[in-house]
Amino acid sequence: MYGKRILLGITGGIAAYKIAFLIRILKKQEAEVKCIMTPASSAFISPLVLSTLSKNDVAIEFWNKETGAWHNHVAYAEWADLFVIAPATMNTIGKMANGLCDNLLLATYFSMKGKTVVAPAMDLDMYKHPAFLRNIDVLSKDGVFVIPAESGELASGLEGEGRMAEPEQIAKFIAEFLETKTKSNGKRICITAGPTQEAIDPVRYISNHSSGKMGFAIAKAALIRGYKVDLISGPSKEILEHPHLNRIDVISAEDMLNEVKKHWHQSSIGVFTAAVADFKPQNTAKNKLKKRDGLGTIELEQNPDILKWASSNKNKAQKVIGFALETNNEEENALLKLEQKNLDLIVLNSTKDEGATFGGEQNKVTIFGKTGKLEAFELQDKFKIAIQLIDIIEGLDA
Ligand code: PMT
Repeated sequence: MYGKRILLGITGGIAAYKIAFLIRILKKQEAEVKCIMTPASSAFISPLVLSTLSKNDVAIEFWNKETGAWHNHVAYAEWADLFVIAPATMNTIGKMANGLCDNLLLATYFSMKGKTVVAPAMDLDMYKHPAFLRNIDVLSKDGVFVIPAESGELASGLEGEGRMAEPEQIAKFIAEFLETKTKSNGKRICITAGPTQEAIDPVRYISNHSSGKMGFAIAKAALIRGYKVDLISGPSKEILEHPHLNRIDVISAEDMLNEVKKHWHQSSIGVFTAAVADFKPQNTAKNKLKKRDGLGTIELEQNPDILKWASSNKNKAQKVIGFALETNNEEENALLKLEQKNLDLIVLNSTKDEGATFGGEQNKVTIFGKTGKLEAFELQDKFKIAIQLIDIIEGLDA
């Protein structure tokens, strides 16, 4: 659930207290959590508990009564990968089914583009009532998923069906749901990262300043979005662990190309962030070159262009994304690479931008597609850029 954005909607039932446990489980699994409460639910659990555990402000009304700031229901709906309304009372389910919109939680539900899940909680007679059954049927037809209530002791003292599913069950449902419902749907991305090293002799090489951070950030973002990742990286100190990550360490451009050749056919997307050395020594000395032998000449030859190989060997469905690291005539050079290498996107970064490109946590990029400039990002974390890049790539099919 790493990085998944779960919006919790809490309505006014005694089971609301269990949401504290649900948030803890989701946070432990590294999901991002935000909460919207109905006004009635704050009688059952304090907003302070929810904001402390979720590490986010909790919204109840359409605006913050103290600051006057608007709680934008559309922004919440756009933010969420999944809206989970738990506990969902008979009242809220009835309003959802009948288009009534008298609080922030309902306005958010009606603005959702992603999916909504409800975990009903009520007394057993309500749970069996024809009105509830009618409404839940309407919600199912509207595409809302229902986590059925469980049987057991109810707050009224009665025994029967109507208890909200336990937080562990809800968390399990969310994890399984997100696993299968993302756009990535198990697709693979092939990413190149880091520098390559081209040996001069057993102890010296030609290389550059790439740390691998940009490529690893894209790998992390892709994993969060549910892709399986083949990350082919030159020498880098970056660490990334994930069950869906296949990390392949290489040294030279030749090695990198060989690995790309092995993995490209199974990929839907290729993102080529590696700073591949364009040249390599024609010959690598078997032994360390000695100072006493004086200054020699190192003859260079061109390395294979890995990105060009991938774009020349792609099928119609595969998307190829290149990076352009420029020092001058940035836009012109990037657009030339986009065309010459037959790319779907090119991500331009310039060494002129302070704090960007090599080594640091941040970058400043402009993204071009076949139709021209798509997005120009201010200097920001490479990871944030990576997440937005994945969104843009996914939008290529739309
Ligand atoms: O690793 P970091 O420290 O985080 O730095 C990130 C970065 C600056 C390395 C990254 O953002 C970046 O710009 N990567 C591309 C660097 C580069 O080699 O640019 P280029 O303009 O020379 O190459 C154009 C494209 O062709 C790139 O996608 C490159 O991966 C690819 N290429 C280039 C040469 C070659 N022989 N094979 C290739 O695949």
